[in-house]
Amino acid sequence: MTVRHLVSIDDLSLAEIRELFALADRFASDLRGHADLCRGMISASLFYEPSTRTRLSFESAMLRLGGGVLTAADMRSTSASKGESLADTVRVVSGGYSDVIVLRHPSEGAARLASMYSSVPVINAGDGSHEHPTQTLCDLYNLWVERGRIEGIEVVLAGDLRYSRTIHSFAYALARFGANVICVPTPGFELPDYVVQRLREEFGVEPQRADASRLGDIAARSDAVYLTPQKPHQLSLFTHARGLTVERVDAVYMTRPQTERHPDGGRNLGDYVRLGKHQLAAESLRDAVVMHPLPRRDEISAEIDDDPRSIYFKQASRGVPIRMAILSVLTGSVKLETTSRVPESRLHRTALGDNPCPNPTCISRTEARHVHPAYKLASRAPLRAHCGYCSHELQFTLVGCTTSRRVYGRDSLEIRKIRPDHLSFFADAAVAQTAGFEPGGAGDGRSADEQ
Ligand code: NCD
Repeated sequence: MTVRHLVSIDDLSLAEIRELFALADRFASDLRGHADLCRGMISASLFYEPSTRTRLSFESAMLRLGGGVLTAADMRSTSASKGESLADTVRVVSGGYSDVIVLRHPSEGAARLASMYSSVPVINAGDGSHEHPTQTLCDLYNLWVERGRIEGIEVVLAGDLRYSRTIHSFAYALARFGANVICVPTPGFELPDYVVQRLREEFGVEPQRADASRLGDIAARSDAVYLTPQKPHQLSLFTHARGLTVERVDAVYMTRPQTERHPDGGRNLGDYVRLGKHQLAAESLRDAVVMHPLPRRDEISAEIDDDPRSIYFKQASRGVPIRMAILSVLTGSVKLETTSRVPESRLHRTALGDNPCPNPTCISRTEARHVHPAYKLASRAPLRAHCGYCSHELQFTLVGCTTSRRVYGRDSLEIRKIRPDHLSFFADAAVAQTAGFEPGGAGDGRSADEQ
């Protein structure tokens, strides 16, 4: 039986996510009544970064399901401090020590790598600034409970959209559900290009400038952007927006500056977006719920904690039932009825060539000795691809075929004939030549693979 992991929010279909909500509702109505579901099972928390809510809610969830937990809350107390790799640690911890691994790590793509070495399900509890799918399930569940639906609602994402992994997973999921997203970044902390590309290419949304004057002060310093659904059936879900003017908002999702990931260590936060009584008085926010994955710093003032619209502590408490749902499904204790699965975007391995991933904090660079570069194809002509670990767009000028050992320019029609698993990426001709590849020229019309 293949092991099912939760590395990206895309690993779950929308139907499965809805089933998880129903399951979480069942658990929420009686948190103490399900202690038989995971009896005898053990979850291992491997946390290479600090955490309060994610680790404790996962551990609480496993204990409430009747299982046990092993916890490495501070990896400096483990052999990681002796230089042990993530890959080796995961091989050991999945080998009889535990039935599921919950992993948080500072390198983007760490959970993907762990899933390749683990014999038990790996749950991504945050990988660098990349993704945080279980926080997104918690956030979606909150929207579903509070608003009754996700389709067609208006959600403002505010703050550090560049480095917040919660934002990235949430934006992908909201796009898939057909929610309308208004980005209100602190200037300098806009969504990264690779996230925008993915929203465009995989989820059919197009970023467009929005008139956010009705959002008042929270949007005053930033160029608000609408992530507009381009698919016709989704356009009909544009309920509250007139043109690209933000009229009424269902939820504002604030994030703290992710200073630990800022290249300057968080010294320059500019004019960071803030939400207090004054900002919440904007007419367009009259019915909005205020969300935050927490921890907050001062981007949400304590003066609005008692406002009925502020749900961030309720949001955190719902982390327990939703994580009970995730654990019970991934350990196989509960079977979902839905058989529809998201067609898994195939990951292709690159056999040779440089590592074309430009992201210095990608696990393919930080743990290079255990990582085989892997990628997802974005387009064939010109050839564009994204790192299979951190999702950044790969940088290369030449593409080679590992069977014919020829290289071509990335616009060459020849490369359309090469099987994705036989593609290799090179920074320039010298690197390709050193790897034993010859220039392919215009080709003879036959696929390198056919020869
Ligand atoms: C978030 C995280 O770790 O990314 N926290 C959480 O899991 N609730 C958000 C953050 O740290 O800002």
